[in-house]
Amino acid sequence: MVGLRLIFSAILLLLAFQEATSHGDNPLSRIAIHKSTFALTDLASIKASPSVLGLTEQNSGWVTLEYSNPIPSVDDWIGVFSPANFSASTCPSENPRVYPPLLCSAPIKYQYANYSSPKYKDSGNGSLKLQLINQRSDFSFALFAGGFLNPKLVAVSNTVAFSNPNAPVYPRLAQGRTWNEMAITWTSGYGINEAEPFIEWAPEGGKRQGRGKKWKTLEIHLKEWYSYKLGHKLFNGTCIWSQQYQFRASPYPGQNSVQRVVIFGGMGKGEVDGSSEYNDFQPGSLNTTKQLIRELNNIDIVFHIGDICYANGYLSQWDQFTAQIEPIASTVPYMIASGNHERDWPGTGSFYGNMDSGENVVFWLRLCSMYLQRTGPSSAQGSLSGIFSFHRYSTDYGMFRFCVADTEHDWREGTEQYKFIENCLASVDRQKQPWLIFLAHRVLGYSSCITYAIEGSFEEPMGRESLQKLWQKYKVDIAMYGHVHNYERTCPIYQINIDDFLHIHLLISPHC
Ligand SMILES: *[C@@H]1O[C@H](CO)[C@@H](O)[C@H](O)[C@H]1NC(C)=O
Ligand SMILES: *[C@@H]1O[C@H](CO)[C@@H](O)[C@H](O)[C@H]1NC(C)=O
Ligand SMILES: *[C@@H]1O[C@H](CO)[C@@H](O)[C@H](O)[C@H]1NC(C)=O
Ligand SMILES: *[C@@H]1O[C@H](CO)[C@@H](O)[C@H](O)[C@H]1NC(C)=O
Ligand SMILES: *[C@@H]1O[C@H](CO)[C@@H](O)[C@H](O)[C@H]1NC(C)=O
Repeated sequence: MVGLRLIFSAILLLLAFQEATSHGDNPLSRIAIHKSTFALTDLASIKASPSVLGLTEQNSGWVTLEYSNPIPSVDDWIGVFSPANFSASTCPSENPRVYPPLLCSAPIKYQYANYSSPKYKDSGNGSLKLQLINQRSDFSFALFAGGFLNPKLVAVSNTVAFSNPNAPVYPRLAQGRTWNEMAITWTSGYGINEAEPFIEWAPEGGKRQGRGKKWKTLEIHLKEWYSYKLGHKLFNGTCIWSQQYQFRASPYPGQNSVQRVVIFGGMGKGEVDGSSEYNDFQPGSLNTTKQLIRELNNIDIVFHIGDICYANGYLSQWDQFTAQIEPIASTVPYMIASGNHERDWPGTGSFYGNMDSGENVVFWLRLCSMYLQRTGPSSAQGSLSGIFSFHRYSTDYGMFRFCVADTEHDWREGTEQYKFIENCLASVDRQKQPWLIFLAHRVLGYSSCITYAIEGSFEEPMGRESLQKLWQKYKVDIAMYGHVHNYERTCPIYQINIDDFLHIHLLISPHC
C-alpha cells in the first residue's frame, strides 16, 4: 500500500513540474530592463525600414532591421519599443536603489541579434524581420549588449510609424442583449473628446443602411450578411475609417438550422515573427488561431472561456492579442468569460486573492463592454463598480442557451451569482432551445487534473457541491471549463462518490 502511494505521489510531482514549465518564460522574458545602462557608440548602428507602415490601411506590417556592433556577443539582443522615444527622463525613479540612467519602459517584444544571422557573433552584422501591429504609437528598435541581466544600450534606430497610428482597428463582435443585436468593440487612438466614434453598416451588397454610436448595438435581420466599418468623426467634419469587415446575423432562438459553436479556454497569444514578450506563455496559441481562421467558414460563434491573453499586466499584449484574433472576432461573435488571469488580484473583491491577473485591470476597461452591456452600468466607459462587478451572462444562439458563469466571483448558494445561474437555467424554453450549456473558466464540475487531484477535490473546491442540483433539476446538457490546459471528458455524472473517482486516477494526463 505504502509503496503504491509513493509511486503515485512521485508521478504527481513530476506532472506538477511539467505544468510549471509549460507556463514558463523563455530566457529573454527575464530581461532586467530596469538595470539597463547606456553604452551608445557611433560605431554601432541599427536601421529599420520601411519607416512608414499601413499606407494601404493594413493594421500590421513587417520591418527589416539591419544592425552592426563592433564588439558583438552571442547574447546581444534587440528590443522593440513603443512609443519610439523611450527615454527614461520622463519616468520618475521608482526605486531609490536603482541608479540612473533609467530605462523605465519595457520593450514590447525582443529577439536575439543572432536569430536570423548565425554569423552575427563573429561579423557583428545582422538583420532581422519583425512584424509590427498598429497600436496607437510609433516604434523604435534598440540593440543591447550585456545579455538580459546587464543590458547595455548600444544603438537606437530611426522611428517607424503607421500612417495613421490612431486608426480604428481590431473590432470584436459580441452577441447583444437579444438575438438581433450585435455589439462591436474596437480600439483606436481617438479620445471621446477629439472625435465621435460610430459604426456604419449595410446588408451585404446593399446601400449604406445605418450608423450607430460606439457601444450601441446594431439591429440585424435574419440570415443576412452585413458589411461594416468603424469610423471616427473629427470635429472638423473629417471621417477616419477602418477597413471593411463582414459578419452574418445570428440565428433567432429556436431557429432550426446548422449552428456550429467553438468553445475553448486559456489560449493566450504569440508572436508570428518568433520574438518574445514578457510572460511568453502560449506560443501554441498561434496554431490554434491559424486553425480557427482556416475553418472560419464552418464556425458561427466562438466562446473563449477565460485566460484570454495572459498579458498579466503588460498592456501592449492586449493589442497583440486583439490583432491576432482579428480575423475571427471581426467575423463571428467572440464571447469571453472571466478567468483568473483576467481578474484575480488581492483586495479587489475577486473570489481568489492571488496575483494571477498581474493587476490586469486595464483589460476590463478595454474588452469588457461585451459583459457590461449585459450585466453592468449602461455607460460602459469603465466605472470602477462596473469593472469589478460580476461578469456572468446568458446568451441565446439558435437552438442553444448558454449560461456563462464567472468563477472569479462567488457562485455558492445564497450569492447573487447562484441566483443568476438558476434564473438562466430555469428561464429557457426547451422546446425552442433543446441545448442548455453551462460554461465557466475554472472546473466547477469534474477534473482529474493534477492540481485538483492533489487537493483531493477533483474539481474547483465547492464547485459541483454548490451547483450540481441546479444542473440536475434543469437538465443541463453539457458543462465546459478551461483552466487546467488539458482535454478531459466524462460520462453523464451526478453526485459522484469520491472514493470511486480515485480509481480512475490513471486518467491524469501528462499534459495536465
Ligand atoms: C544565438 O544566441 C543565443 C543566446 O545567446 C544562443 O543560445 C544561440 O545558440 C545563438 N545561436 C547561434 C546560431 O549562434
Ligand atoms: C524624448 O523625450 C524627452 C523627454 O520628454 C525629450 O527631452 C526628448 O527631446 C525626446 N526626444 C525626441 C527625439 O523626441
Ligand atoms: C558590417 O557592416 C558594415 C556596414 O554596415 C560594413 O562596413 C562591414 O564590412 C560589415 N562587416 C562584415 C564582416 O560583413
Ligand atoms: C481635420 O483635422 C484633421 C486632423 O487634424 C486633418 O488631417 C484634416 O485635414 C482636417 N480636415 C479639414 C476638412 O480641415
Ligand atoms: C504548431 O504547429 C506546427 C506545425 O504543425 C508544429 O511544428 C509546432 O510544434 C506547433 N507549435 C506549438 C507551440 O505547438
